[in-house]
Amino acid sequence: MKVLTVIGARPQFIKAAAVSRVLRRENTEILLHTGQHYDYQMSEVFFRELEIPQPDYNLEVGSAGHSAQTGEMLIRMEPIFEKERPDYVLVYGDTNSTLAGALAASKLSIPVAHVEAGLRSFNRAMPEEINRVVTDHVSQFLFCPSQLAVDNLRLEGITSGVHLVGDVMYDAVLRHTEAAEKKSNILRSLNLTRGKYLLATLHRQGNVENPKHLLNFLEALSLTKEVVVFPAHPRTLKAIKSAGISLGGNIMLIEPVGYLDMLWLEKNARMILTDSGGMQKEAYWAGVPCVTLREETEWVETVQSGWNVIAGMDQARIMAAVKGFPPPSSHPSLFGAGDASLKIVRHLMNEKRK
Ligand code: UD1
Ligand code: UDP
Repeated sequence: MKVLTVIGARPQFIKAAAVSRVLRRENTEILLHTGQHYDYQMSEVFFRELEIPQPDYNLEVGSAGHSAQTGEMLIRMEPIFEKERPDYVLVYGDTNSTLAGALAASKLSIPVAHVEAGLRSFNRAMPEEINRVVTDHVSQFLFCPSQLAVDNLRLEGITSGVHLVGDVMYDAVLRHTEAAEKKSNILRSLNLTRGKYLLATLHRQGNVENPKHLLNFLEALSLTKEVVVFPAHPRTLKAIKSAGISLGGNIMLIEPVGYLDMLWLEKNARMILTDSGGMQKEAYWAGVPCVTLREETEWVETVQSGWNVIAGMDQARIMAAVKGFPPPSSHPSLFGAGDASLKIVRHLMNEKRK
């Protein structure tokens, strides 16, 4: 079986690392990096830490408006897909790289496999929501992390090719947590005490590019008076600088960190505040309470379980959540058993044999 995998943004490197390891045991994988993320700490660090093979193709599209970026990816992908003619194109999540890979493949009648299918925020103002909906509707194989995702697809009339496999990010967490404990020096280098700091990240367009939201959030972090570690996405670093916001002395604003450092920061945080999809789940798996800096989440089960609280970018709600949010006593297993990658590869191989 020959699979062409499209990746381009930070969480996709992590997801693809889990699947590629299994896929490459018995199959050929062609790896295509769109170049959506390109800074060392947003891309190369993950290839090194997770031992992801170097991409066969790098489209080097870089940053641009949504249409320009997606369009450039489409133009550059088409001749590669035509030359490689893979059995399947594999795409992950909900970024512009996901959408471009799915569209370019479907225009050439190459079957698309979508990992993390069926997720919905029901907020179409989010660029990611459009990417998810379109990708799901042109995919032949829809690998869902949860029953809710399967149900979402059914409500949109998609029932064929849908497989509930669990979350490949959980595979990655299980595989790398021990290495994180052994190799990460982040607690020492930042002088952090286990359980005595908050971990924050923020990168969503709607949050970062709204100065009022950004200021509200940063003020809320200052008001906590707790040590806050804030590894900021380059977009966020730029926005803080250009808005001229000065930070409270309790906030450690740092460059994005590698995956092993992030797993270890998450595991030892008192609480995680984030607008990241992946980090809401990682907080849950680490058994750390999470405050979600959005008005809705695709990962509804983390909220239903009582471990995640939706606070938006509202200062009072963030402060209330940080102060008084005892984690519940139960911690049901969510998003599969850590064998999603194996299930995905098996499904594709079985399909190829038909
Ligand atoms: C993208 C995805 C989002 C995902 C996130 C993961 C889309 C629409 N959004 O958001 O779903 O959660 O990746 O991290 O695809 N930049 C750099 N260096 C880089 C990358 C980006 O400086 O290596 C800056 C650029 O100014 C760029 C901005 O960050 O314009 C935003 O990057 P972009 O890839 O467009 O969106 P993300 O916020 O990263
Ligand atoms: N991550 C990381 N370093 C960082 C921030 C995030 O390794 O500085 C990891 C995080 O542990 C998770 C993934 O990147 O596995 C989430 O990516 P991101 O928040 O950028 O995107 P989202 O999940 O929201 O699409």
